[in-house]
Amino acid sequence: PKEKSFAPSGITFYQDFWCPTMLLQNVISFQNHFHAHDQDIILASKPKSGTTWLKAIIFSIVNRTQFTLSNTPLLTKVSHELVPFFEVTVYRNNKIPDLTTMSSPRLFSTHVPYASLPKSIKESKCRIVYVCRNPLDTLVSHWYFGSHLSDIRSLGWTLEEFVGKFCDGKEGFGPFWSHVLGYWKASIENPNKVLFLKYEDLKEDTIYQIKRLAEFIGFPFSQEELRHGVVEDISKLCSLNALKDLEVNKNGTHASFFPNKSFYRKGEVGDWVNHLSPSMLERLNKMIEEKFKDSGLSFKVSC
Ligand code: A3P
Repeated sequence: PKEKSFAPSGITFYQDFWCPTMLLQNVISFQNHFHAHDQDIILASKPKSGTTWLKAIIFSIVNRTQFTLSNTPLLTKVSHELVPFFEVTVYRNNKIPDLTTMSSPRLFSTHVPYASLPKSIKESKCRIVYVCRNPLDTLVSHWYFGSHLSDIRSLGWTLEEFVGKFCDGKEGFGPFWSHVLGYWKASIENPNKVLFLKYEDLKEDTIYQIKRLAEFIGFPFSQEELRHGVVEDISKLCSLNALKDLEVNKNGTHASFFPNKSFYRKGEVGDWVNHLSPSMLERLNKMIEEKFKDSGLSFKVSC
């Protein structure tokens, strides 16, 4: 079945999730053709959870000896180019690229749910970093993102209706709960394979989380690097204000479709307070309680 969505071509139900229809063939191509290497690092997320931020951080950790703060490619390229999405760019237009010549470790990202990842990702020793964000801020962020992509009113949706879609699970890469819980369970079953990060924890203690992430992906900081403030430098370089102010992120589009500036907005924990009415909140809280109550996973919704 097809549903309309912010993506002009709508969303299609595929393997238990709602895939943006314009990406469906690319997802299938990714599933059929990607061969993971043990050294690969894959960032996974539900859209609007902090993907762009994590891409900048992972790229900076891995390439820190190769580039300095003044010549890092982050200054001239969008994060999505440096850590490409399988389903948006790598397998774009159903093409089958030769990825064997990429230097190691290869960095990729995806919004595809855990259950639908290619077998080779699960069977290899490659690592998956998942970033999750509380559902209230994720929803509001998605709402704003949608307004950059098309005139949201022309789709005839109010924020209230989008809350309804979100709670029904009928939005891009939704349902939210199965996306998050799929990776959450995988991280519990196989903690060496999947690192589960929360946007709110990253905001609260960026330095600690960057160190944790670096260790997980096999690029721990040496004592000397720690003494020289390398982690602090990465944290500053990848901060919202630093990235948002770069010319490359103010102009142009990613994959000829997504305005680069649409990936940077407020970057706050708790902005939902300014948008969600008591009845919307009631509906969302009911969904959160129902879907997450036995999972052991909780969300921080204010700072
Ligand atoms: P808001 O819309 O709440 O501001 P994604 O990258 O997964 O699409 O998520 C986008 C969200 O992450 C947006 O949230 C955006 O502002 C925020 N974001 C982007 N870069 C960030 C950064 N460097 N630090 C913190 N948040 C960032």
